Amino acid sequence: MELKNLRPVTGGDGQKLYIETYGCQMNVGDTEIVVSIMQGEGFVHTERIDEADVILINTCSVRDNAEQRVWGRLQEFRRHKKRAGVLVGVIGCMAERLREELMERERIVDVVVGPDSYRDLPNLVRTAAEGARGVNVQLSREETYAEISPVRLDKNGVSAFIAIMRGCNNFCSYCVVPFTRGRERSRSPETIVREARELFDAGYREVTLLGQNVNSYSHDSDSGGHSGDFPELLRMVAEISPLLRVRFATSHPKDFSDKLLETMAAMPNICRCIHLPAQSGSTRMLTVMNRRYTREWYLERAAAVRRLMPDCALTTDIIAGFCGERPEDHADTLSLMREAAFDFAYMFKYSERPGTKAADEMDDDVAEDVKTARLSEIIALQNELSLAGNRLDIGRRFEVLVEGVSKRDTDRLFGRTSQNKVVVFPRGTLKTGDYATVEITDCSSATLHARVV
Ligand code: 5AD
Ligand code: SF4
Repeated sequence: MELKNLRPVTGGDGQKLYIETYGCQMNVGDTEIVVSIMQGEGFVHTERIDEADVILINTCSVRDNAEQRVWGRLQEFRRHKKRAGVLVGVIGCMAERLREELMERERIVDVVVGPDSYRDLPNLVRTAAEGARGVNVQLSREETYAEISPVRLDKNGVSAFIAIMRGCNNFCSYCVVPFTRGRERSRSPETIVREARELFDAGYREVTLLGQNVNSYSHDSDSGGHSGDFPELLRMVAEISPLLRVRFATSHPKDFSDKLLETMAAMPNICRCIHLPAQSGSTRMLTVMNRRYTREWYLERAAAVRRLMPDCALTTDIIAGFCGERPEDHADTLSLMREAAFDFAYMFKYSERPGTKAADEMDDDVAEDVKTARLSEIIALQNELSLAGNRLDIGRRFEVLVEGVSKRDTDRLFGRTSQNKVVVFPRGTLKTGDYATVEITDCSSATLHARVV
């Protein structure tokens, strides 16, 4: 072990902690929990890497390019490692997936901690400061960090994420998440509602309830009784105040219920936007993906959304070029996108992940250039659909929650509609956290422009 890392540390001792976050919103939330845990042990959060004593990187494994970005960043951390006593820790999904291999491949890494072991992080950092390796990648069936108050690192003070559950039990054949984040478990409704109320009291006006599959949220109370499903939780959070907007993600189509739609329709402050990842429009592909629904089932759920809430936006995730995908499967994806008329989509090329069923049992046999071409077609179609959807909004009025000053034009503010569309409008006397009624005057495929009414 290198002697330069030898430094007696008891507690955090005011040591400065710098942390970078990659990947999904769940990771953003986890980073806020990690900062809370570390502060509780005397570490002080800093945004400046050059003054940090402990550098953490919270990582994502969902696609290979997400991992490559982290390897690149670790190389760049080498120069900070030259300062005496600086420790580098890799946390999150890559830590869980690669374990000790991370330290073997990148010598600057002192600490490796998986998503369920963050309570052990201060202790492991201390161990590493004494010259030993600090590794904990134990997954848990219970850990939800329920009582830990996240340290809010977002700057706007208006919108916040609340993790309501962790892990995933679905084992979609392409996905590494069930392996890196372990089994599904839900937080108690009491701790969730309390966290949302505290945010509202602190001036926040929007919370997003997060889970890999919020529709399977289920919590049994400590006294043994069943204390509710996701629609009930959503209603409890929305009842905190009509001024608190409530969003949620992600919904799995197989579990997406009419009860949820009815709860949304009954409460105007539950935002009119549903993220419902389709992944593919081909039933044959959905079957090999282990999604457990058909194209017809998906389109029926999309139709139910449109029927019960005609003003509701529908967004999705699409994977191009999964194992064995034929031209006709790809055509099915394009036609499903048109039929569902998605307002927005996250679109990806399939990336094989070691350890998944697809990696073990299926051929990643769609050529890279074919994947690229299919993804381009999917992106082009989505741009067309987003633009068409936005054009329909011209002349209509929306309530927006002001989130801040527009990056392109400091005389303008930006906010979001209930449908989660970004709107840019003149500043006037408005400020961040206000609600404003605007009329849409123009649009691109990504942004609405408006005047305040
Ligand atoms: N390759 C490409 N995309 C993936 N996703 C999950 N696993 C993979 C993979 N191996 C996508 C899915 C999921 C989103 C979060 O990431 O579309 O909904
Ligand atoms: Fe991955 Fe499927 Fe779970 Fe989503 S539902 S995290 S895609 S396994």
